[in-house]
Formats: sequence, structure tokens, C-alpha cells
Amino acid sequence: IHMLVRYRKNYEKIAMGLLSFMPNEKDLKQLQQTMKNYETNDDWQLFLWKQEEDFIGIIGVIVREHAVEVQHISVNPSHRHQGIGKQMVKALKELYPNKSLCANDMTAPFLDKCEQ
Ligand code: COA
Repeated sequence: IHMLVRYRKNYEKIAMGLLSFMPNEKDLKQLQQTMKNYETNDDWQLFLWKQEEDFIGIIGVIVREHAVEVQHISVNPSHRHQGIGKQMVKALKELYPNKSLCANDMTAPFLDKCEQ
């Protein structure tokens, strides 16, 4: 009873809350710009992790020709160390089976950890 759900405008507040745990999204102006990118650019895609009735994680990507680049990955602090981060990465791979997954500087440490 958990899955990735594509972002919708209704989820804006919860999405911003989850994204704000990223080290590079602490500034509100930056965070608003990021939300705008996800809302307006077709290649920017945002997904929330729904467990029961709660949204407890978020993963955001840029879909490129051959690869999906993870821009953001974050889990609610109360739900960390339970494998949710890893499950989101796995679910994302299943969503884009024909593309490889890659990271940016902000997400590489955790994605490298997932590859181990
Ligand atoms: N870099 C490298 N490895 C990390 C990490 C990081 N920033 N954060 C956590 N890990 C590793 C730890 O070794 C941890 O192992 P432990 O539970 O034995 O301590 C393991 O990932 C946990 O895996 P999992 O349970 O699948 O991840 P999670 O659901 O706790 O979520 C994050 C992991 C990174 C999404 C979460 O810690 C988070 O939201 N951090 C703040 C946002 C952030 O910094 N995102 C970018 C990370 S590069």
C-alpha cells in the first residue's frame, strides 16, 4: 500500500515541505523557483511517495533522452532509515525501464549508496 504518485497542484504544500529538506532548497525563493520548474517544464517530473494516506517522501527528476537525472530526493525525518529512500529509487527505475538513472551533485551521495 505504498507507491509513487505524480505531483499535482493539490500537493503543492506537502511537496514544498518535503523538498525543503534538501540542502540546496533552504531558501524560499529557490524553492519556489524549483516548484515552478516542476510545474511548467515537461521534462521536469516530480513524484511523491504515498504510504497509507500520507505523503512521506519525494523524488524529482529531469527526463533526458537516454537518462533520468535525479534532482531531488527527500524523506520526512520521522520516516527515515526504513528503506523508503531506496524504495523510491527502485520505483523510479521501474517507471523508466528504458532509461538509465543518474544523479546530480546534490543527490549523488545517496544514489551511490543505493547502488552498493
Ligand atoms: N548520503 C549518503 N548516504 C545517505 C545519506 C546521504 N545524504 N542519507 C542517508 N544515507 C544512507 C545511510 O547510510 C542510511 O543508512 P542507515 O539507515 O543505516 O543510517 C541509508 O542511506 C538509509 O536508506 P533509506 O532508509 O533507504 O533512506 P531514507 O528513507 O532514510 O532516505 C534520504 C534517505 C537521503 C532521502 C533522507 O536521509 C533525506 O531526506 N535527507 C535529506 C535530503 C537530502 O539530503 N537529500 C539528498 C541526499 S544525497
